[in-house]
Amino acid sequence: MSSPAASPEAVRVLPGMRGAEVVVVPPADKSIAQRLLIMSLLCRGETVIRGAGFGADCHSTAAAVEALGAQVQLDRSGTTMRVRAPEGIAPRSREIYLGNSGTGMRLLAGLVAGYPVEVVLTGDDSLMRRPMTRVAVPLRRMGAEVELLGAGGRPPLRVRGGRLKGIRYELPVASAQVKSCILLAGLAAEGETAVREPGPSRDHTERLLQVWGAPLTCAGEWIRLRGYGGPGPYFPARRWDVPGDFSSAAYFLALGAGAPGRAVTVRSVGLNPRRSGFLEILAMMGARIVRQEGAAGGDWEPVGWVRVEGQRLTGVEVAGSLIPGVIDELPLIAVLGAIAEGVTVIRDAAELRVKECDRIAAVAEGLRRLGVEVEEFNDGLAVTGRGELRNAETEIETFGDHRIAMSFAVLASYASAPLIVKGAGCAEVSCPDFWRTLVSCGMRVESA
Ligand code: S3P
Repeated sequence: MSSPAASPEAVRVLPGMRGAEVVVVPPADKSIAQRLLIMSLLCRGETVIRGAGFGADCHSTAAAVEALGAQVQLDRSGTTMRVRAPEGIAPRSREIYLGNSGTGMRLLAGLVAGYPVEVVLTGDDSLMRRPMTRVAVPLRRMGAEVELLGAGGRPPLRVRGGRLKGIRYELPVASAQVKSCILLAGLAAEGETAVREPGPSRDHTERLLQVWGAPLTCAGEWIRLRGYGGPGPYFPARRWDVPGDFSSAAYFLALGAGAPGRAVTVRSVGLNPRRSGFLEILAMMGARIVRQEGAAGGDWEPVGWVRVEGQRLTGVEVAGSLIPGVIDELPLIAVLGAIAEGVTVIRDAAELRVKECDRIAAVAEGLRRLGVEVEEFNDGLAVTGRGELRNAETEIETFGDHRIAMSFAVLASYASAPLIVKGAGCAEVSCPDFWRTLVSCGMRVESA
């Protein structure tokens, strides 16, 4: 196989999967690794971040942290990043580029807001279309100057930080990125910052702050943080072993889940309950799942292994409070719906329209091209599965979105004819070795 992961070229993914029993180790969790990179700006000494490989989003955030004055070194194996931060932050340039990383842009906006500096946060075409009013509103209320230089509340995001005051803020939608942005600003604020989220989004920021002993409490839907005042706290630097990314693991688990005779085990994967809702959904669809949390790994995040054994799947309904825990896995659930028996319905997920692309439209279009019946709603979709996928060779548009590319690649393993996944290189945003790992699982992937 040529190396599609290194290029944005299309790949042809052949149907079927030869490996019956495969083991996968996913790359470092990108949510956690990016938080560690950003929060290393608050640490004295050397922060060491270790994981099984970092995706492009982590590299973008590392470069941004460097542009804010830190030294970041990646070891030759690509599995360890070492960060030494200056005291405070000392931007090397006014413009800070975040590539495709929404987490990087939103969290850094919060951190920078607490310092007397001015930066302009920019990114690639996809990031420049993401809504940023959701972070500008609370940061302005805290006292930062935030200007959205793009049309309709889009980036570039100009942040001029300074003295902040704590706020009481109810998030309009469950968003770990917005919650984390406010908490990072809250660290440097005078007084208490209280954030209420309407649903249980991922809590990696809260867990990290608690490891450092920050005065943060979580009670019901409210998270409260007593601010340190300007220029914020300093935490001791340390070494972190980042769990494997559950959201990357999900593609490989899905590969094993839908056909009797297949089995996939993922090792060293993060099992934070706010991230691993996909396991419950797979179980609801009929897959057999065994999981074990190990003692090794995080002293702050649960880590373990999961094994899935394939079964014939049935349709499932995913809505309401289930959504935040599977937000990144919804495209994958929708494509699995195409090979399940019955209808799979996803509702209350309008957020999918403002991810790296409009994921509801992208999934609906791809599935329709494959002849699958799909009904699209503002906040989700319904996919009618017939227990199998009978398709002709079909080109799938990914809109440069890693999760769309990986979801359809998995679907190819259940198809009757190849899927051509366009712009396949985007998978490396979160899963740097995705295509090679797929091949190691017994799938056939060719340059198209
Ligand atoms: C992320 C939170 C989620 C998720 C994204 C990463 C994070 O976004 O979709 O891939 O690292 O906090 P929202 O919090 O905006 O839903």
